[in-house]
Amino acid sequence: MMTLRSLEPILDGQSANTAILDRSGVILSVNRAWRDFADQNQLRWPDYGLNVNYLEICDSASGHDSAEARTAAHGIRQILSGELQQFQLEYPCHSPEKKRWFNMKAFRFELNGVVHVVVGHEDVTHLKETKDSLREREQQMYMLQEQLAHIARLSTMGEMASGIAHELKQPLAAISNYAYGCVRLLQSPKPDSSQIIYGLEQIAQQAERASQVIQHLRSFIARKETDRSTLCVNDLVREALTLYRMELAGTAVEIQLELYDSLPLVSADRIQIEQVLINLMRNGIEAMADTPLKVLSIRTALSAPKSVQVAVCDAGRGLSKEIEARLFTPFVTTNPGGLGMGLAISRRIIEAHQGKIWAERNPDRGTTVCFTIPAARIG
Ligand SMILES: Nc1ncnc2c1ncn2[C@@H]1O[C@H](COP(=O)(O)OP(=O)(O)OP(=O)(O)O)[C@@H](O)[C@H]1O
Ligand SMILES: [Mg+2]
Repeated sequence: MMTLRSLEPILDGQSANTAILDRSGVILSVNRAWRDFADQNQLRWPDYGLNVNYLEICDSASGHDSAEARTAAHGIRQILSGELQQFQLEYPCHSPEKKRWFNMKAFRFELNGVVHVVVGHEDVTHLKETKDSLREREQQMYMLQEQLAHIARLSTMGEMASGIAHELKQPLAAISNYAYGCVRLLQSPKPDSSQIIYGLEQIAQQAERASQVIQHLRSFIARKETDRSTLCVNDLVREALTLYRMELAGTAVEIQLELYDSLPLVSADRIQIEQVLINLMRNGIEAMADTPLKVLSIRTALSAPKSVQVAVCDAGRGLSKEIEARLFTPFVTTNPGGLGMGLAISRRIIEAHQGKIWAERNPDRGTTVCFTIPAARIG
């Protein structure tokens, strides 16, 4: 027959303060950890609580931990009545010096056919503190995430504002040039109405373009689907050149077109791709400001796998070493009048079209900026 005494070595091996209760709640046996705890905490139970009724002590508890004590007693009674096999409760047990938490575990245990309850109290302060600091860290992470999201929103807004300013510079400059041109024509003794009409038409067209730029840039930054249609890139190159004619007029730049004539169609946003072309042309022309040879060639070609490639090649001063690796980063510029947004915007547009964009140094002089757009899937 097994006796309580024979269980003592097993109980003493437990780190939890453990007691065995009989079916009325009387403490029959306690382990070493229980006794050590009682010694360290000056518990005034006679003989470590042996023969004291644990349930009655819980029932009569008063003060801040009385609610937990009653919950514990209820759980133990449920085990004794067979309603529960085991029961667990985490509770605070603060001493004047230290905040502590314990976890009480109780389970049913039959010794020689007689019901007992084993009650263990384990100090979980360490675990609890870890849990609390984990929660605190989670909270910090959450706050960090919020802050980062906010910063990201702000920088997108900043980027959008600079993007709009950047893209509007060209149509606004064209509008003011044409408007002054019209004023001069009207001031002449015999105004040429056909020329004035042409100028006004250009103003209307550029204003229309400016509003489209804002609309497209906004929807682009909001990552909404933009206006895709099936297009021929060669047509886009020709249209972009037409739009850019005003800016070109003041320069001595010669444009060479080498357009591959059986290109596959692409699914693209017309305005956005034209914007990229204008950005690249403008950069090429700016790079040739001080060079004697001013030739800008625009080439289209097939590129594997099933893509259209556009190359804008200048004979200018070439890429500056300091910024070569960061060309496509917003606000990176060597141009005093520039925002450093042209290539950043272009990359966003091309990547949104599942394409790639990159810059190469030419073997002789100048730079070639290329981009690809995948061919549209037919059917
Ligand atoms: N074709 C080129 N040749 C030499 N350098 C170039 C060329 N294209 C771009 N760069 C360099 O990359 C920088 C960034 O170009 P990006 O178009 O992004 O901005 P930006 O032209 O300086 O200003 P903006 O915002 O008005 O376009 C330029 O300042 C220039 O130093
Ligand atoms: Mg630029």
